[in-house]
Amino acid sequence: MSTKDKVLALLEHNKEKIYSGQLIATQLGVSRTSVWKAIQSLRAEGYLIESGTNNGYRLSSQSDVLNQEQIQSKLDHDVTVIAYASIDSTNSEAKRLLETQLSGNFLVVSDEQTAGRGRHGRFFHSPEKTGLYMSLALQHISSEVDAALLTTAAAVAVCQSIEEMTSLSPKIKWVNDIFLNGRKICGILTEGIMNFETQSVESIILGIGINISVDREQLPDDLKNKVGGLSNHSSGTINRNDLTVSIINNFLAIYQNINSRTFLEDYRKRCFVLGKTITFKQKQEQVRAVAEEIDNDGGLVVRLEDGSHKILSYGEIS
Ligand code: BTN
Repeated sequence: MSTKDKVLALLEHNKEKIYSGQLIATQLGVSRTSVWKAIQSLRAEGYLIESGTNNGYRLSSQSDVLNQEQIQSKLDHDVTVIAYASIDSTNSEAKRLLETQLSGNFLVVSDEQTAGRGRHGRFFHSPEKTGLYMSLALQHISSEVDAALLTTAAAVAVCQSIEEMTSLSPKIKWVNDIFLNGRKICGILTEGIMNFETQSVESIILGIGINISVDREQLPDDLKNKVGGLSNHSSGTINRNDLTVSIINNFLAIYQNINSRTFLEDYRKRCFVLGKTITFKQKQEQVRAVAEEIDNDGGLVVRLEDGSHKILSYGEIS
């Protein structure tokens, strides 16, 4: 770990506490000049480090820079973390990294996406520092696990983390949109990477985009009344490193035992479309139906107007 990362880890551990430059230097076994230089470069990276009395330093609770080291050190599982200040799309980057033969499961996070991708080829608005944009690449996927099930598991993990870190109660709109007070705060884009020799899905990229603080003025007109942000609904500050760690830990805990499908009960509890009349697209036509239940594969069982049942396994409902 570099001196800069060590200084950061120390301040992070003691957030809001003033730490003298001398004490930091002694604890890390480095000179005061190296501590001072580390503080300057952390500030240049955007960390809010306040200078207190007696040349002390403290990391403000408002400081929220995505940091590879901080995420990596708190993960319960073996996942390599790669953090960017800006990237076109974390899903696209994960795909490129898979092509370079990066081994094991890995996580790509970015402060900003310049070409964030949503489902159905849509653009995902991903401005700098106001959201959390991440892609988890899972390699050597078992043939029994399918992408739809992983997406439902990810939706549950995101809800659990928001509930653990705030007093909010997010709800899921089947299949993978997360809502707070009628506004979408999170979308999930899952992509499977095929092995053409074996004709099977070899890796899955799970892309999660969460709006943290939304400035309505900055939103495109069509999103102004549809999109919300986590901190627009919550009183406390949300640390994006901690939220990332929590989501990945929650997701991987479910993933380890995914075939038990026990997490589907947690999905059903939060799914707000059950019992409601919905519409979905079938052969270019909008069909009305009542959403009745979530089956064991994460499919939505709907009752059509003629009384027959149909299982929707992907697509969009409104
Ligand atoms: C949707 O709501 O249509 C899905 C949005 C998924 C957005 C996330 S942000 C991180 C990852 N990278 C992308 O380009 N897309 C996903």
